Amino acid sequence: MTVMNYTSLETSLTAVSRIKTFEENTPSEELRADGRTFEEPPDGWPHSGRVIFASVSLNYDTPNNTALVDEKTATTWYALNDISLSIPTGQNIAIVGRSGSGKSTLLSALARMTDVAAGSILVDGFDTSRFLPSVVRSRAFNIIPQEPFFFHRTVARNLDPFGTHSDEEMLTALEKVHLLDVVIQMGGLRAEIGKLDLQLSQGQKQLLALARALLAKSEAKIVLVDEATSSVDQHTARMMQEVILHEFGGPDKTIFAVAHQLRTVMEFDTIVVMEAGRIIERGRPSDLLEDPETAFRRMWDSQS
Ligand SMILES: Nc1ncnc2c1ncn2[C@@H]1O[C@H](COP(=O)(O)OP(=O)(O)O)[C@@H](O)[C@H]1O
Ligand SMILES: [Mg+2]
Repeated sequence: MTVMNYTSLETSLTAVSRIKTFEENTPSEELRADGRTFEEPPDGWPHSGRVIFASVSLNYDTPNNTALVDEKTATTWYALNDISLSIPTGQNIAIVGRSGSGKSTLLSALARMTDVAAGSILVDGFDTSRFLPSVVRSRAFNIIPQEPFFFHRTVARNLDPFGTHSDEEMLTALEKVHLLDVVIQMGGLRAEIGKLDLQLSQGQKQLLALARALLAKSEAKIVLVDEATSSVDQHTARMMQEVILHEFGGPDKTIFAVAHQLRTVMEFDTIVVMEAGRIIERGRPSDLLEDPETAFRRMWDSQS
């Protein structure tokens, strides 16, 4: 099979996450690929959000996630190709690169949704493949869902499906995503979402989904966010990044954020630029931007 047979789907991390949760209800995940059982992580793991990728490669839909070989060119091809990256606690990482370059796969491997074929991923010094994927996910990761879908009747129920938050908490969350005035104008927390759905812009729906994520956020050390779409306007994208950095982040949190709009990544500590499954650049946003020779600068210029 050649590389060309693969459709470049824009797969989102949370979509994969849902499928995996479903799959994990079967016992097959209790056993590792080598037949050994998973270990239990030590108490308190991870106490910091230090992440190391050590020569990680993987592929989809091949035995043991190994390389695809393009018969025409006799080249091998991976979704992730020899990724090495060391991230200290408290860093905010923006992952950029064109569609199909491996951004979502990088997060998916980190969250143990896709097994690595070679190399290892360490969180606080522990190779996460030793632990059950669902355990790794709940202990180490706060995955911010992005889908602007609303299933319940009222604004309140959509923000807080399990009814565990007070009105005040919901209003505070709305305020943080700059939607408080809009929601109050449209009838408040008990207003029917159907009406809002018609009146809200795509960007506002995205912000409402973020308010829901804020209310549901866990205290896990590593925050993952795979920007759902490149179609959100720049103003909204910037507001969302601000909320993500300031509400989900912090000195003891590590953030990995896939970003489509380069104008929103200047506040991050580090930018990782991906291409064809590899990291081709890594650095501070201002350093990458000032150098006219970088891929980041070329992408930046083409987005303006
Ligand atoms: N579930 C999947 N099955 C098969 N191939 C996939 C799957 N998800 C992604 N890929 C392929 O892996 C490569 C990297 O994809 P992805 O990580 O989604 O890139 P990005 O997020 O940068 O757009 C692409 O060639 C894509 O087609
Ligand atoms: Mg993606």
